[in-house]
Amino acid sequence: MTAPPKSVLVLNGPNLNLLGTREPSFYGAQTLADVEALCCDACETHGFTLDFRQSNHEGVLIDLIHAAGVAQAAGTLAGVVFNAGAYTHTSIALHDAIKGASVHLIELHISNVHARESFRHHSWISPVAHGVMAGFGIQGYGLAIAALALQPATASSQ
Ligand code: DQA
Repeated sequence: MTAPPKSVLVLNGPNLNLLGTREPSFYGAQTLADVEALCCDACETHGFTLDFRQSNHEGVLIDLIHAAGVAQAAGTLAGVVFNAGAYTHTSIALHDAIKGASVHLIELHISNVHARESFRHHSWISPVAHGVMAGFGIQGYGLAIAALALQPATASSQ
């Protein structure tokens, strides 16, 4: 019997619901629905199912990361692609959640945060992420899902 497909959680933080109208010079003209469609295609290509979420609330993001850790431990989750938005630069709580849940996570930014204001250069997510993707526009989501196909979480991995 073949195992059921693993899921990928694509998690988007604050203000990413505004994609398409928000600072298009940094984030492009495509909407969050376009990102979801791209992720859906990438998951289909790599044999994953997609769980696509967005929240403007830190606590909701923390709860979703905890649940991802439980799914990973149960062997049903390949990993998380996380665009934490501005919480990247401020949230020790999200850092602790990722570490505490031992979740296999790729940090993602649509823009190249290192080519922008200095307050975007520090990330609380990077030290607890498996890898970082930044500056590839929304195509980065597809690249991050491909990376999870190459290196999925094992039940014991971070
Ligand atoms: C972002 C970069 C962050 O600095 C910013 O606060 C965002 C989006 C990106 O995708 O490039 O909200 O994470």
